[in-house]
Amino acid sequence: MNDNNESGAARSGRHFLQVPGPTNVPDRILGAMAQPTIDHRGTAFAALTLEIISGLRRVFNTSGPIMIYPGSATGGWEAGFTNTLSPGDKILMFDSGFFALNWKIAAVRFGLEVDFVSCDWRHGVDPDTVEEKLKADASHEFKSVMVVHNETSSGITNSIAAIREAMNHAGHPALLMVDAVSSAGSIEYRQDDWGVDVTIAGSQKGLMLPPGLSFNVVSEKAIAAGASSQLPSSYWNWKDVLPSNETGQFPYTPATNLLFGLREALSMLEAEGWSNIYVRHARLAEATRRAVAAWGLENYCAIPAKSSNTVTTVLLPESDSADKLRAVILRRYDMSLGAGLGPLADKVFRIGHLGSFNELMLAGTLSGIEMGLAAAGISHSTGGVTAALDYLKT
Ligand SMILES: Cc1ncc(COP(=O)(O)O)c(C=O)c1O
Repeated sequence: MNDNNESGAARSGRHFLQVPGPTNVPDRILGAMAQPTIDHRGTAFAALTLEIISGLRRVFNTSGPIMIYPGSATGGWEAGFTNTLSPGDKILMFDSGFFALNWKIAAVRFGLEVDFVSCDWRHGVDPDTVEEKLKADASHEFKSVMVVHNETSSGITNSIAAIREAMNHAGHPALLMVDAVSSAGSIEYRQDDWGVDVTIAGSQKGLMLPPGLSFNVVSEKAIAAGASSQLPSSYWNWKDVLPSNETGQFPYTPATNLLFGLREALSMLEAEGWSNIYVRHARLAEATRRAVAAWGLENYCAIPAKSSNTVTTVLLPESDSADKLRAVILRRYDMSLGAGLGPLADKVFRIGHLGSFNELMLAGTLSGIEMGLAAAGISHSTGGVTAALDYLKT
């Protein structure tokens, strides 16, 4: 019997947690966290932090500073702009999905002046628009460009390399801030090559940990911008966190046991090999998309090349309720799928295929969906699971 199920019913077998984060936490990581908490001012703890920071360099492909916060990724957003910007600063953001929208709401609350460029959520951010907006800003009023790398709501991955190129073409000196919450550790991310100034990430997705940690990965340019930044910040202040983290310490009590788990996660990812991790996510995502197409349903992402390798957002016909489908699947098959967020509520469901995840887990996930579609009376073609398995056999 397994008490890890959402529906409340007594069930055997494991609950399928197929939301796009938090993701399944491997037993090895759970075991690593189940250790006595140690003195966070001692040498063993400092060695733990330094080992983790060195491991995280491979996640973000950076040689620059990395800061770890006890706090969710939303706090990481706040850290990003409060450490670099001043009230009234103009920033460029894109209405490309639910998380982009929430990031903008946070920026407005801090008194930033946001040019929130409207986008089609099914298309994501167009680098040409970035270039146009920046070229039109001859006096360089925009202090920062903020983009979500992988929009977890729409299942779209924006090209940060193309956005950086657009900024370079425009010859614009704005900082580039990127939300890599649902890409880091699953989709290749290259902080230094892409010239990203602040990356925000969290623990509960590709890093296979429970929620509770966030990260700021920063450039020297971002730190320099911090010298004149006037937005108030205390808990998130890089001036305290950065020198502490660099010596393996924290300016406050860290989430010690999550850090035990993170060390284990990084060692698992390293053992699998980064290119293998990216290929595994790409394969499982492609198999998922083939299943969706075979069911006769629509991938919400309208540009195939931008389809996310960590989450697929599935659009249902207008007459169907995605929330009812998710409820049926949870009740009958003990599987949690992601809800539609904001304006997508009840219109889409999201399949998380990231983190600790493999072919057989995907086969189970897709089987649950295919059976759920039938149980919920949603018109579809059978054969989605077969289409996915046929692809995975190759
Ligand atoms: C792309 C993205 N950004 C930000 C967040 C917010 O992160 P958190 O819930 O850890 O604060 C999420 C959460 O799912 C996300 O997917």
